[in-house]
Amino acid sequence: MNIYEEDILDHYQNPSNYGDLENPDISYEEDNPLCGDKIHMDLKIEDGIIEDIRFHGYGCTISQAAASMLTEEIKGKPVEEVKKLTRDDILEMLGIPLGPVRLKCGLLALKVLKAGIYGIKEWPGEEED
Ligand code: FES
Repeated sequence: MNIYEEDILDHYQNPSNYGDLENPDISYEEDNPLCGDKIHMDLKIEDGIIEDIRFHGYGCTISQAAASMLTEEIKGKPVEEVKKLTRDDILEMLGIPLGPVRLKCGLLALKVLKAGIYGIKEWPGEEED
């Protein structure tokens, strides 16, 4: 195992920012339709800054590790900066090449984050509150 693979495994086994936030400003989840793995993210935004973030979900090592790494990366950053993150940034964080199937795993967290920030879809439970 190389250092990147070890890092991925470590994030999977001991994820950062794992759990839920109380009264999040943004709450969103999505799954990978290919496998059903899921990621849920809660964000607290203050003055355009991501003050706090939590995620939970289930799925493969890559999807969950990428989510953990992403939460570390964006905590404390301006939302406008986070909007500019690309798949290449995720690949750089993971540090290993991903084939087409694994790429969907690696990008799931970014998809959830961007959809949440841009408000593309409401988190399904929200309108019942
Ligand atoms: Fe489901 Fe990776 S196998 S996200």
